[in-house]
Amino acid sequence: MPAVIDKIAEALHLHKNRSTVASTPAFDEKKVTVIFVLGGPGAGKGTQCARLVQDHDFCHLSAGDLLRAEQHREGSEYGQLIQTCIKEGTIVPMEVTVKLLEKAMKAAIAEKNSEGWEDGRGRFLIDGFPRKMDQAEMFEQEVCKPSMVLFFTTTEEVMLERLLERGKTSGREDDNVESIKKRFRTYKEQTMPVIEQYEKLGKVAEIDSSVTIEEVHEKAKVAVQKSLARSN
Ligand code: C5P
Ligand code: MG
Repeated sequence: MPAVIDKIAEALHLHKNRSTVASTPAFDEKKVTVIFVLGGPGAGKGTQCARLVQDHDFCHLSAGDLLRAEQHREGSEYGQLIQTCIKEGTIVPMEVTVKLLEKAMKAAIAEKNSEGWEDGRGRFLIDGFPRKMDQAEMFEQEVCKPSMVLFFTTTEEVMLERLLERGKTSGREDDNVESIKKRFRTYKEQTMPVIEQYEKLGKVAEIDSSVTIEEVHEKAKVAVQKSLARSN
């Protein structure tokens, strides 16, 4: 698929150019709180983010949802690249995802003016990101440093069951056994090292997400409150 390879090369070239320029992050971590939400596919990230939004007026940005929207956006030059990566369970070149997130964050800060969102302030749950070390590095360098990582864990059996159930109605091209197996592999090989890195920095709150949505939410809420109290 030469068109896809061209896109990857193009993305890597962009990155090469960028890394020669020392940049300051677009957002000041003192004004903008970023919480990364990680865990395997089907661990409950999206479900828990929806609950946490109600507690703290977060803006919830799912990297996967942003990528799917970009895939279907008319005139997008990344449509085919994103589709292939999603189906194969591989990681989309970081420039694409980081730029989508930065754009969405800027838009939320410009639009929202409720409490906690005044004077360029904001708080974000960035769901399903960073999935790979290079995404974490680029985001910290160019966008913002995260205050913490919420890490939802359960077994592959539970995740598989949830994803197959979701697949009955999600219309997602990757909620099938073949893609799910590839996603599990990518998670273990690429995402776990990111979580381990943040663990070393003491930024990870690990929460068992095998139990009910309410029980998981209670624990996640406490972890988020602690982190917000520290950064206030
Ligand atoms: O998080 P979600 O399961 O919706 O992500 C779907 C797919 O989007 C991933 O399997 C991957 O192909 C792509 N993705 C990515 N980088 C991210 C998040 C998602 O490449 N940070
Ligand atoms: Mg999700």
